[in-house]
Amino acid sequence: MRKKITKHTLVNMKSKGGKIVALTSYDYLSTRIIDGSDVDLLLVGDSLGMVVLGYENTLPVTVEEIIHHLKAVSRAKPKALIAGDLPFMSYQASVEDAVRNAGRLVKEGGAECVKLEGGERYVPVIRAIVQASIPVLGHLGLTPQSLHEFGGYKIQGKDSESAERLYRDALSLEEAGCFAVVLEGIPWQLAKRITEGVGIPTIGIGAGPHCDGQVLVINDMLGMHEHPLPRFVKKYEEFAERMRNAVSEYAREVREGTFPGPEHSYSAGDDKGKS
Ligand code: KIV
Repeated sequence: MRKKITKHTLVNMKSKGGKIVALTSYDYLSTRIIDGSDVDLLLVGDSLGMVVLGYENTLPVTVEEIIHHLKAVSRAKPKALIAGDLPFMSYQASVEDAVRNAGRLVKEGGAECVKLEGGERYVPVIRAIVQASIPVLGHLGLTPQSLHEFGGYKIQGKDSESAERLYRDALSLEEAGCFAVVLEGIPWQLAKRITEGVGIPTIGIGAGPHCDGQVLVINDMLGMHEHPLPRFVKKYEEFAERMRNAVSEYAREVREGTFPGPEHSYSAGDDKGKS
């Protein structure tokens, strides 16, 4: 039986050299399946706004929406650590907002840690959440909630000045009490430098192979989208195509009258056809 993963398990993995395997999850059934495949960290990310709710970006996602999906994920009682994402404007305006909303993700949603985007300027926020006994996962680099500040989804830390800033950000997140940090959309050389420079685990997405772990959006890696994906995503499946083929076959069989057949039908007085 797999033991429950805690933030301490992930922190210890860095010194032991084991890679952290993380994925997003947004619902009960997928969580059961993903957790059965030995994943260490399940993130109810604000990416759910785009891949589940059809928003154009992650900015409209609300605390209520994150809690709704967290509840579904935590009902599956995964062994993996459950992280809940603090959505845009749930922690930016004040430290008090941040602590209250982080607390809601834990208390109402069942999160076991929270994730928030941003560097040095969020140190007071991170400290206050950690003070409330809520573990915090940092997130640096191409942070999608800063879409308008960046002017698009652009790889960060490409020049030496911004690389230096991100390196300092990573050190200050560790200092503030983050137990791990997600590095998104940065050159692999910078991710390697940060990974070697901090004592907490780094979890990469579009940050190369040298991080202490990797995270992907489940819908991306299963090929549930038809649109082009960023180069850092590896598609392990073609779910969209498989689903379209299955639904087309069902539609054809219904129209031509071959479904339902006798094996899918009940007969009066026939005990064998009970369920
Ligand atoms: O919202 C999300 O799913 C994320 C991951 C991609 C790291 O932030």
